[in-house]
Amino acid sequence: MNFPKTSGLLAAAALLFASCAGTPSQHDGQAVLDNIASRTSVRTYQDRPVGADTVEMLLRAAMAAPSAMNRQPWAFVVVDDKALLQKFADSLQYAKMAASAPLAIVVCADLSRNSGASGDWWVMDASAASENLLLAAHAMGLGAVWTGGYPRSERVKAVRHILGLPESVVPLNVIPVGYPAGNPAPKQKWDPSKVRRNGWME
Ligand SMILES: Cc1cc2nc3c(=O)[nH]c(=O)nc-3n(C[C@H](O)[C@H](O)[C@H](O)COP(=O)(O)O)c2cc1C
Repeated sequence: MNFPKTSGLLAAAALLFASCAGTPSQHDGQAVLDNIASRTSVRTYQDRPVGADTVEMLLRAAMAAPSAMNRQPWAFVVVDDKALLQKFADSLQYAKMAASAPLAIVVCADLSRNSGASGDWWVMDASAASENLLLAAHAMGLGAVWTGGYPRSERVKAVRHILGLPESVVPLNVIPVGYPAGNPAPKQKWDPSKVRRNGWME
């Protein structure tokens, strides 16, 4: 596999996502946990392209996700055409940042290749793939943000129209990706009060 040059973070990503990776050592495990804890949504980007090797690493991470019955119902549309990115920004109220991103990856489910068997599980499958992609982006020094498509019918319709997707393909989200222009702080979310043990006792 051809990894882009670079930092420890990229090396960590390589360790994480190379298809031949074995069990991470304890040291690698801490790097994984730090990556998860420090990820945050990034909505402003440098005017700098994202290389093809890097895009492939994002997609490899996404496709490493678990899926119900291992159906892998996902399909990914990589968008680096500026006119299309502008159309996302114009058509999707909450995806305005797409206009300034060098790239967006649209995570879809291809129901024509997964008819019936996986039912509504595709939502979870494609969501797991999306989170893997967000974490991989962060590990490689990129910034990304999940912008919602499904289940909002008007957003699904808009994305289908922009990309020419058939009715059998459902866009779960549009994920603009780029090198961060700023340094947004991760939100602190740990909340022990959300954890119960052995049931829902008060
Ligand atoms: C299902 C889903 C839909 C989202 N839709 C949008 C969106 O349309 N636009 C946007 O800017 N962020 C969107 N987000 C990102 C959330 O706003 C963000 O994850 C949340 O505020 C927590 O911040 P963090 O990602 O920095 O931890 C979405 C996230 C999820 C999981």
